[in-house]
Formats: sequence, C-alpha cells, structure tokens
Amino acid sequence: MKDLFDIENNERTEAAELRAELEQANYEYYVLNSPRLSDRDFDFKLKRLQALEDRYPDLKTADSPTQKVGSDLSKKASGFEQVAHRYPMLSLANSYSREEIEDWVRHLPEEVEIVAELKYDGLSISLHYEHGRLARALTRGDGVRGDDVLRNILTIRSIPTYVQGLPDYYEIRGEVLLPWEAFERLNKEREEQEEPLFANPRNAASGTLKLLNASEVARRGLTCRLYHVLGEGLQGQTHAERLEQAKEWGFPVSEHMQVCQSVDEVMSFIERWDTERKNLPVATDGIVLKVNSIAVQQELGFTAKTPRWAIAYKFPAEK
Ligand code: IVH
Repeated sequence: MKDLFDIENNERTEAAELRAELEQANYEYYVLNSPRLSDRDFDFKLKRLQALEDRYPDLKTADSPTQKVGSDLSKKASGFEQVAHRYPMLSLANSYSREEIEDWVRHLPEEVEIVAELKYDGLSISLHYEHGRLARALTRGDGVRGDDVLRNILTIRSIPTYVQGLPDYYEIRGEVLLPWEAFERLNKEREEQEEPLFANPRNAASGTLKLLNASEVARRGLTCRLYHVLGEGLQGQTHAERLEQAKEWGFPVSEHMQVCQSVDEVMSFIERWDTERKNLPVATDGIVLKVNSIAVQQELGFTAKTPRWAIAYKFPAEK
C-alpha cells in the first residue's frame, strides 16, 4: 500500500516539475525569443505531463501548459494595444512520424481530402480587414488577446492595406518571417556592434515585430506568408478554394500546397520538401496537414489548445 502512495506522490511531484519547466520554456520561447529547450524535448515533456494529468485529473487545470497556448503578450505598458481575437488563435498538435500521421487520419471521416502545406517558422499574425481596409494586425498573444502591431505590419509591402471586393469583415492569418538573407545581414551588423546575436530567423522576426521604432522594423525587411482565412459569408467551401480566392485578391498566400488523397501522398510531399526547403528564402520547420472541407473542419472542431482538423509534422532538427 505504501508503495502505491509513493508512486502517486512521485508522479505528482514529477507533474509539478514538468509544469514549471514547460511554463519557463514557453516564456523563453515567446517572450524572451531565446528558447533553450528544443521543440522536440518540449513536446516529449508535454506528452508526459498529459499522461500524468490523465491519471490524476485534478492536475488538469485550465492554466496547465497542456490546456493553453504559450503567450507572447507584451507587458501592459509596451506601447501596443492588447485586443481580443474574434476567433481564438490556437496552436497545432505536433507529430514526428508516419505512425502519428496515420493515427491522426484514422480519427477523420473516411476519404477526406487533406491539404499539405509548408510550416513556416516565424510568428503568427492575424490581419483584420473591415470594409476592405486593413484595420488591425494582432499577434497570437495568449490565444484570447493579442498585441496590435499594425504599424510594424505596414512595413511589409506585400500585405495589401485596401482590397476591393472583400466581405465587410475578413480575417486572414499567417506567419511573419525574416528571410534568411535579411537575418544574416542583421546578425552581421549586430556582431560588428557587439550586440547579442539572434539564434535563428524566428527569434529575429519576433524581436523585430515587437520593436517600437517602425523605421527600424522597415529597415530589417520582414516578409510574410498567409495560410488561414476566417470570417462569415465566405464563398469557398474548402480551405484550398479560400486560399486561391485570397491569392486572387492579392494576398501573399503560402505557396507549394498540395491536395492529398492518401497518407502515401502526404509522405511523399514531406520527403520532397524536407530536401527542397533548403532552397527557400525563408525558414520552415515542418509540414502542416489540414482537412480541406470547411464543413468537415467544423464537424471535427477543437480541443482546448488545437484544432482536430489539422496537425503539424516537424522535420527532424538539423545539426
Ligand atoms: S494553420 C488553428 N498553417 O505553426 C491553427 N499554421 O506550431 C491554424 N504555422 O500557430 C494554424 N505554418 O503560427 C498553419 N501553413 C501553416 C503554418 C502554420 C506555420 C505556425 C502557426 C501555428 C504554429 C503551430
């Protein structure tokens, strides 16, 4: 009997430690832009915490890292207004193998189309258009509220500020990125000025988007790829059609997507892009798989943190 108590005590302690570690890792990643834990180790620890919380459900509180997305919200006095998202801004579940993808597909209705696209490694942004005009640009923040970084987003010339023919309210989301070339130029300058270097383009993009000086932001040369359309009264019945329409409206939509009918097709897309991505001007860290039909997406819905209709596959980290 004593043994059982011991096991429970140890596991509860382990859960508390994991929780603290994951909270610290989220802070380093989203606020400091300087992560120390790899994505893979983060996911491994998160899975273990999930298993412990399943065993001791009282530990699964709404503020656990298993239940909420990491927050990039700036301090209240940061100079950016915090605004509520119209639709929560969630994260994606990660997978690392064919087996995990097959497991995800098994939980989908039979014979659904899956769109495979690149997973860009920057920071997510949500652009709000009202009566055709770009009104706000929100970071993910804590998923419920984000920082309005519109003045910095206006430095990205490929993002249209007015589009004729948009629904009265239109929202399009994507990733803000610093191209490899701009990242290397920036780090070279910082080295010359003996300033700390950015570890990768994602951290550099994230640090840049939160700067208060928009002309410095413009000088650094951010770019973006958009991959998710939201709003009411949209015409396209599939994700691919909605992105195609956005492209016709002039939005810088994510390229190189493919509608797949089978896991085999998904796997060959993954294999091809794990090599070809090295020729892209921006950083990618995986592939995102999404159910193409919007009706099926709505049927599947969300967990507390992630949609059930999409999953990320992470490329093995490069040495
Ligand atoms: S879809 C409801 N598509 O990856 C979730 N996300 O690790 C919709 N990301 O938070 C997101 N490329 O910032 C989607 N083609 C893509 C993406 C993508 C990069 C980012 C996004 C997301 C994160 C999850």
